[in-house]
Amino acid sequence: MAATSLLSNTFLIVFLAIASINLSCCAQDEDQKVYIVYMGDLPTESEYTPMSHHQNILQEILEGRSVQETLIHSYERSFNGFSAKLTEQEAQKLSGMKGIVSVFPNREFQLQTTRSWDFLGLTENVNRIPSVESNTIIGVIDSGIWPESASFSDDGLGPSPKKWKGTCNGGHNFTCNNKLIGARYYVTDESGEGSARDIKGHGTHTASTAAGNMVNGVSFFNVAKGNARGAVPSARIAAYKVCTTSSCPNDAILAGFDDANADGVDLISVSLGNFYPLAFEEDPIAIGSFHAMKNGILTSDSSGNSGPGPKTVVSNAPWLLNVAASSTDRRIIDKVFLGNGKAIQGLGVNGFNLNGTAFPLLYGDNVSTACDPLSAKRCSSGCLDKDLVEGKIVICDSARAVSEVFTSGALGTILISDSSLARPDASFVSPLPAALINNTSGDLVKSYFKSTQNPVATILPTESVKDSEAPVVIWFSSRGPNSISPDIVKPDISAPGVDILAAFSPVANPSGIPGDTRSVKYSILSGTSMACPHATGAAAYMKTFHADWSPSAIKSALMTTAFAMDIKATNPGLVYDTSADEYVQFLCGIGYDSTKVKLITNSSCPSSNGSTTDQPWNLNYPSFGAHVEAGKKVHVKFTRTVTNVGTMKSMYKVKITSDDRITVSVEPNVLSFKSLNEKKSFVVNVAGDGLGSDEMATASLVWSDEDHTVRSPIVVYSQSE
Ligand SMILES: *[C@@H]1O[C@H](CO)[C@@H](O)[C@H](O)[C@H]1NC(C)=O
Ligand SMILES: *[C@@H]1O[C@H](CO)[C@@H](O)[C@H](O)[C@H]1NC(C)=O
Ligand SMILES: *[C@@H]1O[C@H](CO)[C@@H](O)[C@H](O)[C@H]1NC(C)=O
Ligand SMILES: *[C@@H]1O[C@H](CO)[C@@H](O)[C@H](O)[C@H]1NC(C)=O
Ligand SMILES: *[C@@H]1O[C@H](CO)[C@@H](O)[C@H](O)[C@H]1NC(C)=O
Ligand SMILES: *[C@@H]1O[C@H](CO)[C@@H](O)[C@H](O)[C@H]1NC(C)=O
Ligand SMILES: *[C@@H]1O[C@H](CO)[C@@H](O)[C@H](O)[C@H]1NC(C)=O
Repeated sequence: MAATSLLSNTFLIVFLAIASINLSCCAQDEDQKVYIVYMGDLPTESEYTPMSHHQNILQEILEGRSVQETLIHSYERSFNGFSAKLTEQEAQKLSGMKGIVSVFPNREFQLQTTRSWDFLGLTENVNRIPSVESNTIIGVIDSGIWPESASFSDDGLGPSPKKWKGTCNGGHNFTCNNKLIGARYYVTDESGEGSARDIKGHGTHTASTAAGNMVNGVSFFNVAKGNARGAVPSARIAAYKVCTTSSCPNDAILAGFDDANADGVDLISVSLGNFYPLAFEEDPIAIGSFHAMKNGILTSDSSGNSGPGPKTVVSNAPWLLNVAASSTDRRIIDKVFLGNGKAIQGLGVNGFNLNGTAFPLLYGDNVSTACDPLSAKRCSSGCLDKDLVEGKIVICDSARAVSEVFTSGALGTILISDSSLARPDASFVSPLPAALINNTSGDLVKSYFKSTQNPVATILPTESVKDSEAPVVIWFSSRGPNSISPDIVKPDISAPGVDILAAFSPVANPSGIPGDTRSVKYSILSGTSMACPHATGAAAYMKTFHADWSPSAIKSALMTTAFAMDIKATNPGLVYDTSADEYVQFLCGIGYDSTKVKLITNSSCPSSNGSTTDQPWNLNYPSFGAHVEAGKKVHVKFTRTVTNVGTMKSMYKVKITSDDRITVSVEPNVLSFKSLNEKKSFVVNVAGDGLGSDEMATASLVWSDEDHTVRSPIVVYSQSE
């Protein structure tokens, strides 16, 4: 409770402070901003029309302006609310009004930028039910889609599923087919054109990762050559474009959810997020996915790329499947060959071939007349001299120098990662031959450079190598603990998010470096954005076997089988199922007042009579998390209920492994089931002598019969206040 309200207040204050600075400088009509007014569930009265209600509300509070020039968008299909251009005073008036859950600024979220499926166990010849798979619709809320991509061909697919209520409204010259069955857009591209067409590449990439059709022999300039396919190649796609090439406004994200929920999608994939965590009632992804969950739709989202520090997961609602990025067994690398015969492994998606020819090697300060030696060695912006770099490979003491080296017209570059920057652990598409190396390898390059009068080097085309350490959660992937509801473990799962080849937009810039005019149909991207659609695809695959399962049951199956996506996940044995009512109790338990809970959920908080069912750590979640006070004895009691979805008559025994700072006991430690869908509850007691400040103790709890293994992590951590 404390954490939630404290955080939202902090952000509100910060926001208002920024707003008032802006206001003092500007003309009168510029002191209006777009706000989102969230009003919870849609009322069911038949005479209720959301839009006229929204207009009436605005009428009441507007000071000298008309409703028409103020109201931007009414959310009215899946939940209730609107966006409008308001002054700060008007926004404040609204936030106190009856019937309104929250009023928050229209923040801009960011996109969280073929073999990977084989790595997960979902090989090409995995057991599928094509007739059911093709009845599954995945809603992708992203930067749009490139409808002509071969990955969205509708070969072998019949007409749209009957349940589909959406439409193809992709704008000028945008056609859907039996694969891409729907498209809508809520933003206008920089060109001014309204279209669901993806000019960024991101939405095309994520959609094809989740559900792209099989395409043979694709590559990025021969890098990572192979067959591209989504997790569920027969599933249908509906694209909701909410992002421009630079940002994803919150009012567009909510509009996308409003439509996706009502259009009849089965799952929603959303690979975007804020830079910092937001309270649920101000987070459009938490809001949209809550109403999706009530409609039986599971939403997966990406954790964010702000790791590896703690509390960097930006979306923390328990009804979301939050996905971290891990490596796969294939890494994409490129090698530098120095004139002394030494080969150095670097990172880079280099689609160029220097044919093994050695070229003169120079340091940034050798080819700069404009900058001091330190900036020149870093190849800082504006430093390199066009006349001096031609035909040269330039060494730079910075991982961020690609743009400067490329613009200057150099032939290639060796970038030495500076310690201030993230650990180099993913390969990025570069507009010229480039290799990013770590500082240890950098020392080798430097000593060779100093050792000779005429240093030379070449950069080899990119190749794939095996990574035997995979999968590991990658450095940049955002980490828990959950800063909004500390007793729910986040992220929930990890999936491949490094060096992922998937469909791309041919008009998008593949490296993102200005001046790179190459057009590609497939490209390699890394990020939790790429991990999210893998999880969405896995969930869709699950759903083809269990059409009637709740979003939480599907999520539980993925989490407790640790993503062993072949047969195990589709037959998890037991699931931790969470009903909409249990999320209501959870919201009440973390301190939402009952009026707001009623608006959001259409249910009332249970009257608290000292029972513990509303403690947030007792939400029926597939993982166990609790935050405790540092230095105090640990004593946490979790209650959970599992549902038997495996074998009718079965007996599960518990097995605990734990680190030595805590002891874990389970009561009862055997669960016997006589029928399917039978539920059994148990209690997990965690005790310990106490944790230091910001310390974490972990354990694992496994229920197993002879055929199933149901695994949950237990995480107890102390939070410094
Ligand atoms: C429609 O878009 C496709 C893909 O960009 C393009 O090839 C085609 O020329 C366009 N047609 C028209 C009439 O604009
Ligand atoms: C630096 O990179 C090289 C080549 O990939 C690798 O062998 C070495 O372990 C790395 N060193 C560090 C400190 O990461
Ligand atoms: C490499 O060889 C190809 C084919 O002979 C040629 O087109 C290309 O220009 C060469 N590249 C360089 C950097 O020499
Ligand atoms: C490059 O600059 C270094 C000084 O940083 C100098 O010692 C070296 O001789 C220069 N090399 C060339 C080829 O100009
Ligand atoms: C290499 O970078 C790491 C941080 O990434 C830093 O701790 C270390 O001191 C650096 N080593 C050298 C030789 O610069
Ligand atoms: C809200 O709850 C009332 C009373 O339980 C019910 O009649 C109504 O259908 C519910 N509305 C929605 C949208 O679920
Ligand atoms: C009080 O809590 C118990 C569970 O501990 C529950 O069974 C009972 O219905 C509750 N009473 C009221 C009035 O909410």
